[in-house]
Amino acid sequence: MKRVPQTTSVDMSTSVAKLNFLSPVFTASGCAAAGKELDQFIDITSIGAVVTKSVMLNPRSGRATPRMAETPSGMLNGIGLQGPGIDDFIENDLKWLQQKGARTIVSIAGNNVEEFGKVADKLRDIPGVIGIEVNISCPNVENRGQVFACDPLSAADVIHSVRRNVSANMPLFAKLSPDVTDITAIAKSVVKAGADGLSVINTLLGMVIDTDTFLPRLSGKTGGLSGPAIRPVAVRCVYQIRKVLPDIPIIGMGGIRNGKDAIEFFAAGANAISVGTTVFNDPEACVRIHDEVAEILQEKSINSLSEIINAAHREDIS
Ligand SMILES: Cc1cc2nc3c(=O)[nH]c(=O)nc-3n(C[C@H](O)[C@H](O)[C@H](O)COP(=O)(O)O)c2cc1C
Repeated sequence: MKRVPQTTSVDMSTSVAKLNFLSPVFTASGCAAAGKELDQFIDITSIGAVVTKSVMLNPRSGRATPRMAETPSGMLNGIGLQGPGIDDFIENDLKWLQQKGARTIVSIAGNNVEEFGKVADKLRDIPGVIGIEVNISCPNVENRGQVFACDPLSAADVIHSVRRNVSANMPLFAKLSPDVTDITAIAKSVVKAGADGLSVINTLLGMVIDTDTFLPRLSGKTGGLSGPAIRPVAVRCVYQIRKVLPDIPIIGMGGIRNGKDAIEFFAAGANAISVGTTVFNDPEACVRIHDEVAEILQEKSINSLSEIINAAHREDIS
């Protein structure tokens, strides 16, 4: 039997950028591919949404191995956006998700501003895509490899390019990097450029050195740090953005392992959450975390999730 969320008296529904979800728990991009493997364990139509691995215009084999390293309370990955390219993705993964009836947010990436627009254009009028998450945490090959998400203008250029290539009512989520001095400046810039919501946060740039060889453990030398180690950084980012953009929908993520972790994000201002690294240990995590949040709220006699969203900001209302 595939696991589905338990029915309780708590209203767990949420709305994000005009989209309504019965569950606020989504997969995180890159941690559940297109949901096929997870569907052996959970009914993927019962979670809020499947956020697919970032897809680029052309097929990519990604970086050489080793591409993963364990770290205290986390992991480092340097996979390098391996994938089949957008045409194959639409033909296979997206078709499968459509047939399943899963609510699908497609994550896209590009090597330059124009490429983001081209990938987005391919998704125009494809049924079953309820939103696009724009992974701007990748290097701009036309600007010395500078990560789009680390510069407000480059980040905005990408969102403009995507916005121009999708229908006006397609919800766009910009996925932000925590590797910046002021994440609120990037958040404001992408919202001004047409993002309807924000996905907060992508991995932090890290490095692990092998103490036998004295060399970096990953072939790409640096990689993205994820898992519980980054949770306080992620919660801080959600909180800071919510403070300056009170109405922008936020999908929060970073090290969520259980219901209590998820509640931190909702209280900081997230309207929904994505679960990434935890899914590698527990493929039922998205449903389990939904149930744990509902249980915690029920124990506190709180009737709906919406009552705790932004709760950490209450001290400021005086
Ligand atoms: C193996 C792996 C692959 C990932 N691939 C992507 C990706 O393709 N696109 C993206 O936007 N984020 C990607 N991420 C980042 C996650 O979506 C998420 O933002 C981050 O890992 C923090 O959440 P977590 O601590 O729950 O994993 C990846 C993370 C991991 C661990």
